Amino acid sequence: MRILITGGTGLIGRRLCKTLLAEGHEPTVFSRNPASVPVKCGAGVQALASLDGWHPALGFDAVINLAGEPIVDRRWTAQRKQELWDSRVTLTEDLVRRIAAAERKPPVLLSGSAVGYYGNGGDLMLDEAAGAGTGFAAELCVAWENAARAAEKLGVRVCLLRTAPVLSRDGGILARMLLPFKLGLGAKLGNGKQWMSWVHIEDHIAMQLRLLRDDQMHGPYNLAAPNPVTNAEFTKTLAAALHRPAPFTAPAALLKFAMGESADMLLEGQRMLPRKMEAAHFRFAFPALAEALRDLV
Ligand SMILES: NC(=O)c1ccc[n+]([C@@H]2O[C@H](COP(=O)([O-])OP(=O)(O)OC[C@H]3O[C@@H](n4cnc5c(N)ncnc54)[C@H](OP(=O)(O)O)[C@@H]3O)[C@@H](O)[C@H]2O)c1
Repeated sequence: MRILITGGTGLIGRRLCKTLLAEGHEPTVFSRNPASVPVKCGAGVQALASLDGWHPALGFDAVINLAGEPIVDRRWTAQRKQELWDSRVTLTEDLVRRIAAAERKPPVLLSGSAVGYYGNGGDLMLDEAAGAGTGFAAELCVAWENAARAAEKLGVRVCLLRTAPVLSRDGGILARMLLPFKLGLGAKLGNGKQWMSWVHIEDHIAMQLRLLRDDQMHGPYNLAAPNPVTNAEFTKTLAAALHRPAPFTAPAALLKFAMGESADMLLEGQRMLPRKMEAAHFRFAFPALAEALRDLV
């Protein structure tokens, strides 16, 4: 398949490209830094410097939309919120306009979303039928999903990737946590009772491939392992995998002072369940956190 990927140079995209190349597909990555594409994504990956380069005669068999400015690494000032919005919602609207203009439309679009769609879920078990939550992250995900769903009217099969924090050696949440945990400075966040969904990167990629191939699948998918844990349990399990203590607590007030509104992403949680993937008999390589972390650290 000829596959266009936005955000293909990111944590998920790089791994996805390698898997697609190994399976004989032809990925093209849209990147603001096209020279970095073969280096980050693999020598056989084509680069597209602008979506303008997607001229109407250039046909793709699928589009995977993963672009987005990093969401947890800075305070959410008004300007930062706009950047987060533009790099997801505005970019997706633009992408769908290109799909509408394409002579040969891609039959399938996989488009990003996140566990933040559900807002603060408390202890509720959240499957794909649960409603959207409130707050900036939820509003962003709703608008991002709606922008992608506009492609359905063009006859494109749209799958929405409601992604849990992705566990990988190469970046993301785990890479950020490793140093303090290795130094024995691991800490639960706030009271540690908030639920944390998570997914091993290998399972995330396998779920995307399944969504690409299976033309019965459409709509939102919770891309998470079937066993979410509380933040306290995550802290304990990671510390155990590293054979280190994690005796500390990062107080909620301190996180809010340091991070402002974006601290909600750490202090609130979602107990998200991959019901539709399970109903499709997807087999997780890493359903339990201890095994996933043993594999990765
Ligand atoms: N990783 C996770 O735990 C996780 C969890 C939930 C949801 N997600 C979502 O899944 C998607 C992929 O995640 P990831 O971890 O692979 O992200 P990532 O490593 O931060 O990479 C995102 C990519 O998006 C592109 N990008 C960033 N800002 C952009 C902008 N202003 N305009 C156009 N492109 C821009 C960048 O590509 P270039 O620099 O090459 O242009 C970057 O490589 C993201 O949208 C993220 O929100 C990820």
